[in-house]
Amino acid sequence: MGWGSLATFVAASCLSTLRFFFPNVLYEPPATFKAGYPEEYKIGEVSERFKEEHKVWIYRSKKGITAYLALCTHLGCTPHFRPENKTFFCGCHGGVFNLEGDPIAGPPPIPLYRLGVSLAPDGKILVDKNLREADPKKRDKEPYLLVV
Ligand code: FES
Repeated sequence: MGWGSLATFVAASCLSTLRFFFPNVLYEPPATFKAGYPEEYKIGEVSERFKEEHKVWIYRSKKGITAYLALCTHLGCTPHFRPENKTFFCGCHGGVFNLEGDPIAGPPPIPLYRLGVSLAPDGKILVDKNLREADPKKRDKEPYLLVV
């Protein structure tokens, strides 16, 4: 019985040691992704093409291309784009954002976050979710606005 206990202890120790060679890894979608070519977006339209997979809206205005994070700045619900009145509506507490991402009704304290956008070498739009900006003084220029 003594040898059995010792063998169990040694086996458990070896397994515990082996476990350190396989660290826990968090599998998340990549923070950057390509969102197609600028010509695929019409001026004045909000595209929901990447909302499901990446939680991102692409909006092309006369100024350029913007990527919004589809996350309400109140408590983090996912708003919905309403094409009929061109607003982003959050059903959790009635927050409403205009096309610029500014809160125009409800409790959201700051605008929607804009994400980094640039042109990849292949000419496609590269969205970088690591770059986020809601400050109106900073968001209307690179890297949060892609002038095309
Ligand atoms: S979480 Fe969007 S309004 Fe509260």
